[in-house]
Amino acid sequence: MSDRVFIFDTTLRDGEQSPGATMNQLEKLRIARQLESMGVDIIEAGFPAASDGDFCSVREIARSVEKCQVAGLCRAVPSDIDRAWEAIREAAHPRIHTFIATSPLHMKHKLQKEPAQVLEMAQRAVRHACGYTANVEFSAEDASRSEWDFLARITEAVIDCGATTVNIPDTVGYAQPDEFAELIRYLRANVRNIDRAIISVHCHNDLGLAVANTMAAIRAGARQAEVTLSGIGERAGNAALEEVVMNLNTRRNFFEVEHGIDTKMLFPACRLLSHIIGQPIPPNKAVTGANAFAHESGIHQDGVLKDRRTYEIMTPESVGRVGTDMVLGKHSGRHAIKRKLDELGYRLSEEDVTLVADAMKRLADIKKTIYDEDLEAIVLEEVFRIPD
Ligand code: KIV
Ligand code: ZN
Repeated sequence: MSDRVFIFDTTLRDGEQSPGATMNQLEKLRIARQLESMGVDIIEAGFPAASDGDFCSVREIARSVEKCQVAGLCRAVPSDIDRAWEAIREAAHPRIHTFIATSPLHMKHKLQKEPAQVLEMAQRAVRHACGYTANVEFSAEDASRSEWDFLARITEAVIDCGATTVNIPDTVGYAQPDEFAELIRYLRANVRNIDRAIISVHCHNDLGLAVANTMAAIRAGARQAEVTLSGIGERAGNAALEEVVMNLNTRRNFFEVEHGIDTKMLFPACRLLSHIIGQPIPPNKAVTGANAFAHESGIHQDGVLKDRRTYEIMTPESVGRVGTDMVLGKHSGRHAIKRKLDELGYRLSEEDVTLVADAMKRLADIKKTIYDEDLEAIVLEEVFRIPD
């Protein structure tokens, strides 16, 4: 098995399906360029049959992106596949991504088809797509609620028809990490031709487990992770690209796999997305939130000042952030206050630092966060005040 995990970004397709995250063509192009320079392997640019606007955006992205593969999503019906190919055909590395639901619930109530019909449609779709390109991905929608033996049968069949990637989505975020890893291991053990395709996973976050399920699946042998910037996506979203990648980096010896992402571009990319869709990054968001590298308690601040590794498992610089942020508040210690004063350009005596620290703690009792401006006002009042 290869030790390289392919990062498949679907910010522009599944991510855009997130309420309020609609982007225009130019905005999508900016995101696509950012993803390309970050080292993403595959960009899912959209769902060309969904609308003319989507078709045009996918075509523009296909024309402009050179370094990575560009995928267009389509249902397992010939007209959708034709439209997807029309949109991506000018890409340097096009990929057709076709899907059909495989769970009893979806087959019976949504598709109103028997499993044998679904199997047949999947095979036809993959054969049809292979008439255009050798780079074909098949997704078994709602795979995590599908019967495992049927999932294995359909996986084997689409690989025989030419699919080079088979995606196992946890469409409604229902899976648990152990169980999802077990499913991936089951497919590896029970699909005769599995070595001819890459197993991909695509996890939603309805129970907050999208990243955990993705990581468990990688441990079990999945070699493509479908993700979005900041985890935007349908309902509670998808697995966040920056979190999956930093798990791989921070616990390199645990996962023992490589990826092609320049991690220094993670924060700028998420910031760009946030700016474009007008949705702020939550402060406690892992990797990119304002608090992700902020330390307020005195014990933590003291530790970080002595050796950052005491309370930081990755450096802010490694994800493209400026540096550790010491947030002053009532839990802050003297060391952090002195350092902040130094940063602001005040070289104070020990005695004056004590004066400022005492005043700051009094203020912090009534005001949660102490900003630089508050500290400067304290310095002016306590140290530089000219007596009346
Ligand atoms: O969540 C899902 O199942 C999907 C598929 C179309 C890949 O987005
Ligand atoms: Zn999805």
